[in-house]
Amino acid sequence: MKQTTDFLKMKESKSKIVMVTAYDYPAAKQAEAAEVDMILVGDSLGMVVLGYDSTVPVTMEDMIHHAKAVKRGAVNTFIVVDMPFMTYHLSVKDSLINGARLIQETGAHAVKVEGGGDVINHIKALVTAGIPVVGHLGLTPQSAAVLGGYKVQGKNAESARKLIEDAKKCQEAGAFALVLECVPKQLAEEISNILSIPTIGIGAGVDTDGQVLVYHDILTYGVGRVPKFVKTYTNVNEQIARALDAYACDVRNRQFPDDKHSFTMKEEELLSLYG
Ligand code: KIV
Ligand code: NA
Repeated sequence: MKQTTDFLKMKESKSKIVMVTAYDYPAAKQAEAAEVDMILVGDSLGMVVLGYDSTVPVTMEDMIHHAKAVKRGAVNTFIVVDMPFMTYHLSVKDSLINGARLIQETGAHAVKVEGGGDVINHIKALVTAGIPVVGHLGLTPQSAAVLGGYKVQGKNAESARKLIEDAKKCQEAGAFALVLECVPKQLAEEISNILSIPTIGIGAGVDTDGQVLVYHDILTYGVGRVPKFVKTYTNVNEQIARALDAYACDVRNRQFPDDKHSFTMKEEELLSLYG
């Protein structure tokens, strides 16, 4: 299994880091079989699995519950768990307690936090305490309400400059990797060049050191229209719809269960039952 320092080496040798989200045992098993470098138990969980319309309602208990299932499916893969909304903004002590729970109770290897600014001090404290941290800048979904929706960030020089500063601060605070979400590809390339830690892009162009996508988006599973930056590789929705329709149809038409799927008892047992 890879360690935080291996991701640094991958950046140096220009070998791309592959990350995918997973929220349960089967998806984690599949991700591990695909030999991804890192699994993210993202708080996108709230939207793609739990049916909320943002990541804000996701709790520590939700993340722990799902991260434990992921760990059972992928014991040999590096696992990052998102710290939920407002669990790393109060006191540094609260952030430490929450960060520790997310790795201690689940067996995950690192946590991810969104934002620069005051969050930097919390990153520093977590790393000092021995908890590896991934930063997350650009479109930070937990603050979408403040950003005015799910929009590309850092499009003008001023906001791009701020993003570059925040990226440097994340690195200085000890983050071992940085997710860049929905930023212009030129800005992602610039940040990737400036930082010594690897950048992991989503909607950030081809020049980041790694890539992450949401499991359900890759598969078109449960989700409807996917954002511009997603490439879908299959359509599980269609396959599931076809299978469930066929099942319902078979049951209604008495085509299933048939003899092949049924158990029988011996004739003499049947006779003595009525005997
Ligand atoms: O929660 C999530 O899935 C994420 C990725 C999109 C980076 O944070
Ligand atoms: Na997230």
